[in-house]
Amino acid sequence: MIKKEDPIKTDVLVLGSGIAGLSCAIKAAEGNLNVIVATKDFPKESNTLYAQGGIAAAVDPDDSPESHFKDTIKAGDGLCNENAVKVLVEEGPERIRELISFGAEFDKKAGVYHLTKEGAHSLRRILHSGDATGKEIEQTLIKRMAITPRIEPLAYSMGIKLVIINDRCVGAILLDEKRNSLIPIKCRAVVLATGGAGRVFQESTNSPIATGDGMAIALDAQIEMANMEFVQFHPTALHLKNAPRFLLSESMRGEGAVLRNVKGERFMEKYSDVLELAPRDVVARAIVTELKKDKAPHVFLDLTHLDPDFVRNRFPTIYATCISYGLDITKEMIPVHPAAHYIMGGVKTDLDGRTSLKGVYAAGEVSCTGVHGANRLASNSLLEGLVFGHRAGKTILEDALSMPKKFEKEIKRNIKIPSLEVVNEIRKQTASLMWQGAGISRNGSDLENLFAELLNLEAIFGEPPFERRARETWNMIQVGKAIAVSANYRTESRGAHFREDFPDKDQLRWKRDTVLIYREGKYIFK
Ligand code: SIN
Repeated sequence: MIKKEDPIKTDVLVLGSGIAGLSCAIKAAEGNLNVIVATKDFPKESNTLYAQGGIAAAVDPDDSPESHFKDTIKAGDGLCNENAVKVLVEEGPERIRELISFGAEFDKKAGVYHLTKEGAHSLRRILHSGDATGKEIEQTLIKRMAITPRIEPLAYSMGIKLVIINDRCVGAILLDEKRNSLIPIKCRAVVLATGGAGRVFQESTNSPIATGDGMAIALDAQIEMANMEFVQFHPTALHLKNAPRFLLSESMRGEGAVLRNVKGERFMEKYSDVLELAPRDVVARAIVTELKKDKAPHVFLDLTHLDPDFVRNRFPTIYATCISYGLDITKEMIPVHPAAHYIMGGVKTDLDGRTSLKGVYAAGEVSCTGVHGANRLASNSLLEGLVFGHRAGKTILEDALSMPKKFEKEIKRNIKIPSLEVVNEIRKQTASLMWQGAGISRNGSDLENLFAELLNLEAIFGEPPFERRARETWNMIQVGKAIAVSANYRTESRGAHFREDFPDKDQLRWKRDTVLIYREGKYIFK
C-alpha cells in the first residue's frame, strides 16, 4: 500500500513547469501568494524545452497585431475564438519584452531582431534563439523562478487528482515518485499547466512526458473539455531507423528547404500555391498522399541547395542531432514523416484561465482558450503559454479565493499495479492504436473500434494506478478515449481533423466547438 504524507498548505498549486506554468507562478508569487510548482520530472523537462522554431509576435515595425490576428484566424479554419486571438496578438509583444527583461536572448542581425518565417504567416515575425528557442525561454523562466520569493518547486511530484468539496476545488493529490507516497496539497487555486498529449500517438515529436496528465485530471473531475479532436500533425519529423522522431523545424522550410518524394520530385506545387509553407495539415496530408502513391516509408526534406555554413549556423541543434545519426544535412536529404505535435483542444477556459470548476485554472497546451481553433498557426504556442499563463496568474490574484476550510480526501491506497512489462505493453498498444485509428486521416468505424480497444486496455488496470509510468499510461488511455469520441462526434473535416467519410467542411452544423464532459463513464457533449 502506498504511503500518505501529511497535507501541505499553500495558496496556489501549479502543475507543470513549462512556459505557461512558470509564467503563471511568477505572476501569482509577485502578487504575494505562496506558490508550489509541482512537476513530475526535473523542473526544466517540458515540451517548452524542446520548442525549436520560435515565438511569433508582431514586433517588427512592418508587422501589426492585426496582421498576426488575420493569419491566426485563417489557420484556425473558422473555429478560433476571436476575442482570445485579440488578447494573444495584442498582449504578446508586451509579454515578450518582459521575457527579454528577464534575460531571454533572441537572435539579432546587425543589432536588429532576426525574424524567421513559418507556414501560413504572411511575413517574417518569429523571434528565435537559433533552433533552440524553447530552451532559451525555459532556462530564463527557471532562473526567474529561482529569484522570485514565495515559489517552491517540487520535482518528481506528479499531480494525479483534484480534491473537490461542494463544487469547489480545495486542492490536489500529488504522487511523489522518489518517496513512493501521496502528498495532499490544500490550496486556494490549482493551475493545470501540464502541457500536451503528443505521446498518446506512436509517432510524436513531443517529450516523453507529454502524456496528457492534466487533461486526464480534468476529465476525472468532470471539468469541461473542448475540441479534443483537433490534433496537429507536424509534417517533418526525422524518420531514421533507431532515431527518435526528432522535430525538423518548419523554419527550415521558411529558410528555403523543400520537400521531395522518394523519386526526388518536389511535390508541394500539386497541393498548395504556397508550396512548402502551406498550413501544416495541408502539408502533412500531401506527404501521406505521396507516401501512399509511392508505397514509401518517408519523403525527404532537402536543404542541400542552401549554403552549408548558413545551415550549420542557423540550425545548430538539428545539424548536430542529425550528424549524431550519421546524416550530414548540408550534403544529404533528410528522411521525414509526419508526427503528432500539438493538441489544439484541451481543458476549456475563459480568457482569464478559469475552467468550469471553481478553483481550477488552466494555461498552455493543456488548455483550450480557443486561440488555435481547428489548426494552430506555427510558433503561436509559446506565445499562448506566455500570455495566458500570465493572465491566469493575474486572475488568481484578482479572484482572491479564500483558503478552503475543509480539506479531506479518503484515498483508496491498496491498488494493484500491473508489472512494468505489462504497463509498457499497454502503453505501446495505446500509442499504436491511436496512430492507426485517430491519426492524420480518420473514419467513423475506425474511431469506434479504437474506443472499444482502449476500453479493453483500460480494463487491464481496473483502477487508476499510483505509480508514475502506470499512471501516465492510464492518462494516455483517458485522453485517447476523449480524442476518439470527439473525433467521431465531429462529422466533418476541418483544420487538422480529417474524416475520410466526411471529407467536407460543414459550416451549418459544425462551425462550433465540441464541448465535452466525462461523467460516470459517459461522454456528454454540450
Ligand atoms: C517548428 O519549429 O516547426 C515547430 C514550431 C511550432 O510548432 O510552433
